[in-house]
Amino acid sequence: MSLDLTTEIAGVKLRNPLIAASGPPTATAERMVRLIKAGAAAVVTKTASYDPEYQRSPRPRFNILHKEALKTGFFSLHSIELAARFAPEEIAHQVMEVKKLVKDEDCAVIASIAGRNEEEWIRLAETMTVAGADMLELNLSCPHTRGVEDSLWGREAGSDPKVCEFVIRNVKKASGIPVIGKITPDGANPVQVALGMLAGGADALVATARFSALLIDVELEAPPLWGGYGGYGGPWMLPMSCRWVARLKEAGVKAPIIGSGGVSDWKDVVSLLLVGAEAVQACTAVIVKGAPFFEEILDGLKSWMLRKGYGSLKDFIGKALPRIVPFSSLDRKTIYKAFVDEARCTGCLQCVVSCPFDAIKIRQGKAFVDSSKCDGCGLCASICLVGAPSLLSKP
Ligand SMILES: Cc1cc2nc3c(=O)[nH]c(=O)nc-3n(C[C@H](O)[C@H](O)[C@H](O)COP(=O)(O)O)c2cc1C
Repeated sequence: MSLDLTTEIAGVKLRNPLIAASGPPTATAERMVRLIKAGAAAVVTKTASYDPEYQRSPRPRFNILHKEALKTGFFSLHSIELAARFAPEEIAHQVMEVKKLVKDEDCAVIASIAGRNEEEWIRLAETMTVAGADMLELNLSCPHTRGVEDSLWGREAGSDPKVCEFVIRNVKKASGIPVIGKITPDGANPVQVALGMLAGGADALVATARFSALLIDVELEAPPLWGGYGGYGGPWMLPMSCRWVARLKEAGVKAPIIGSGGVSDWKDVVSLLLVGAEAVQACTAVIVKGAPFFEEILDGLKSWMLRKGYGSLKDFIGKALPRIVPFSSLDRKTIYKAFVDEARCTGCLQCVVSCPFDAIKIRQGKAFVDSSKCDGCGLCASICLVGAPSLLSKP
């Protein structure tokens, strides 16, 4: 069975739904070419900014937490990498270079831009359009920026739907290529922000970027490393990203949505597509796994589609949306009771400690459920490492 992985964002055809998000993996032309050769359908440049302060990131600037989970999943990346260290004209040159080097690869180059004021937004949009960028991505989401009165980009500016509308309207006037609004998860309601972006004429949306966070080292009694706030993300973000994509679809957004935030394996890609994303971006996972990340994801996506009998992405994009149960329709009637498979139980006491109803005791070294106290909440079944408790429904 032949598989059609193509998708389309605002008229730009992508050979598959995988986009390398703006960040260290796309910091140079050489790196972007490597990602495309590994299978990415598009790359987003590091954000081009005229602000000299944002062209110089502090050192050190990366802090991986929960390193033991790097291979299995739920690590976090705390970092304060600012905009591209190159001037916007140099980024424009990179765009041209990448386009030339991968002209046979059927891929798109998206220029990420951030202007401090209307004039800069327009200049950046024009520069990148002339350079041959296929689309513009507007950084209205960077977790490190100052206030709106200081600068018209990043998280603060991107938290105000009216500012987003204003910025996008101006950029649209200055460029003939599709404009993508990148949404912060860490400001105003992302749905309102998205509606502001669309009112300004955004052709597509990225949902979402990362959070701003502060770590404290209790021995130093101060923030570690660079000593301040940083962007915070990791694979644990994925369910939040799914939520925002779904909420945008529920709000009636018709423009294509690029799911982003926490994508670290093929299942994450499928999850975002199932809630209506037309493509996905990844950055943190590419930092950790390098360019082979894209090959790995494409293999996983293809195997899943074959197993499910899907010939193209259209067959399943948005399929989970009608299956999301609204709060008002949650099943509150069916009674469940837990029971324990003694052969599996190790007597570790985890379910005993956690049961909110004190319904589980240990009897002859094994967990035992008092049905009269059990609420059927499912915590024991969910928390057990060896799958000893499970639930039975009672009509
Ligand atoms: C170290 C680092 C640098 C980043 N730099 C940029 C940037 O210059 N511009 C931008 O729009 N997003 C930037 N991002 C955000 C990513 O593009 C992405 O939106 C975010 O990390 C969420 O996706 P992920 O969970 O796949 O990393 C950066 C992220 C990281 C981790």
